[in-house]
Amino acid sequence: MKLDNKLFKKQGYIHIKDIIPAHQLKRVRKESINLKRDKVSELGKPREFGTGQYWRGLEMASKLNETLFMSYIAPFMQQIVPVFLETIDIYLFNDQVVVKLPHEDFAFPEHYDNQYGPDPEGALNNEFKTINFMWVLTNMTKGSGILEIKNNDTGKWDPIEAKAGDMIAIDGNTLHRSGHNTTDKVRALYACVYSTKKMDFEGFHNIKWKFCSCRDGIKNVLLPKGEEKLWENYKK
Ligand SMILES: [Fe+2]
Repeated sequence: MKLDNKLFKKQGYIHIKDIIPAHQLKRVRKESINLKRDKVSELGKPREFGTGQYWRGLEMASKLNETLFMSYIAPFMQQIVPVFLETIDIYLFNDQVVVKLPHEDFAFPEHYDNQYGPDPEGALNNEFKTINFMWVLTNMTKGSGILEIKNNDTGKWDPIEAKAGDMIAIDGNTLHRSGHNTTDKVRALYACVYSTKKMDFEGFHNIKWKFCSCRDGIKNVLLPKGEEKLWENYKK
């Protein structure tokens, strides 16, 4: 089973292998890496969206690139996200290009995503849920600044070695961290964060995700039979 919500809830995260359709993966990888290369010269400069300043991680990336927005709300994501958020009333919150260039000085200390949101306490009290669905755009190998996630079940830090085309979904309350990329290759993720409530956080998406009603567009051949329609269980 790929969309294993039980395992997600137990661990506080899930590594879903081989789930991103190839054509989408290729496009998002290209756009994400190009965007990072373009914007790395803007470090420290003011920005309209997100935190208000350019830094090494590009939050609200879809405001800079239309292809990324279409990927953030891609029909195949509609088959995945509701299964873990357990609702179809979903709000867009943040989408972020996290590209580590070769030997770039860019690491994330231990954190949980909700701590940077507008209501960390409400999140910890489960008044709402946020989940970060990370598209793995390049192979994440040792030394490339791989993610380490604190497994809620074992209490141990799990190093996540992943392949391009995988997805890693992390609950907004789950601790994680990542190191510098010490390899000669680019390490790229596209992080799509959704919430069960309208976040009302200045600079970020505060809109409802309008689902696609097109029948053909929603087919993801990488999903096992019987899992394509799991999300429909959350329809009212
Ligand atoms: Fe994070």
